[in-house]
Amino acid sequence: MTSNYDMLGRDELNDLEAILSISNSDVDEVIHAVRANSDVLFTWDYERSKPALIKLYEKAKTSQWNAETDLDWSIPVDQEAEVRKNQNANKSAFGEIDLKGTVFSTWGEDDWVKLGVEMQNWSLSQFMHGEQGALICTAQIVETVPWIDAKYYAATQVMDEARHVEVFARYLDTKLSGHYPVNAHLKMLLDDIISDDRWDMTYLGMQIMVEGLALAAFGFMQQMSSEPLLKKLLRYVMSDEARHVAFGVLSLQDFYTELNSKEIRERQEFAYEAAVRMRDRFLQQEVWERMGVDVKEALTLTLADPNRNAFSGVLFSKIVPNCKKLGLLDAGDGWLRTKFTELGVIEYEDWVDTGAEYDSLDAVSQDRTA
Ligand SMILES: [Fe+2]
Ligand SMILES: [Fe+2]
Repeated sequence: MTSNYDMLGRDELNDLEAILSISNSDVDEVIHAVRANSDVLFTWDYERSKPALIKLYEKAKTSQWNAETDLDWSIPVDQEAEVRKNQNANKSAFGEIDLKGTVFSTWGEDDWVKLGVEMQNWSLSQFMHGEQGALICTAQIVETVPWIDAKYYAATQVMDEARHVEVFARYLDTKLSGHYPVNAHLKMLLDDIISDDRWDMTYLGMQIMVEGLALAAFGFMQQMSSEPLLKKLLRYVMSDEARHVAFGVLSLQDFYTELNSKEIRERQEFAYEAAVRMRDRFLQQEVWERMGVDVKEALTLTLADPNRNAFSGVLFSKIVPNCKKLGLLDAGDGWLRTKFTELGVIEYEDWVDTGAEYDSLDAVSQDRTA
């Protein structure tokens, strides 16, 4: 049986030494090369045979939007004021934890505001990098997927992802106060997805895991934010993102019924590894470095905060039901169910799957109808 150590390089999920030993050592690099190993597939079968993907493709064509004209970039954003407005929820990054004896007990309001500002710069930066990952992975799917209906759909997603990179980059540059390089755990995951030679792993890693988490994270941020430009930007990105996750679910659903138990187990392990990498990335280690505090002390407090665990759980509220829909949760001896239980996210298994809900998240067509 593959152990946590084999997959993650550590036995204990919360081993902070091991988590922090993975850091981005090349923060000044501008170009990052990854070797792709998959075959590029032509298909001479042009017959439209996947009704669910045909429907999704038609929807994608009519729900395209233009970041330049559909968002009002003239809205001024006072980032510090926005952070202060949310201070009630955010006064301490550590919820109810007793900070006596830690450096944080000496922090005043300005320190907490600075932290809030950095956390937002970090979050939007990672979203932007993740969006570029989606752009590249989906372009790869155009090349590697064997079905014409999936190539058509993936082509629309490539355009969507270009728009997403564009809006996050523009928001960071014109409304916020600084960038962060890609988080090492996210980068490692993206590299793994891109270099895998099996076309369905691109879908599983990107559409199901990375985008499933992004959809939940965007929803959370959209609810918490009162800044109108960011709110609308996230609503529109989510509108696309729901389709993308549905693309993963609808494409893999049938394909996974054809795999043998060893192949399914490899998918389960891949999904689990991706889940842990994303959980590691949300520890935001680079923010604490930039704040000049002891990163390990900060993360020990973070992991001890029960509210924090609730938040990181919600991030998996799309991933778990979608894995269940794909049959991955209970396939074989239910290995992934055991792992998701250890991660504390199994409670989401019966939430709505994205294959069923994407239509209701189409904010673009809702606005147009209104
Ligand atoms: Fe996206
Ligand atoms: Fe996406």
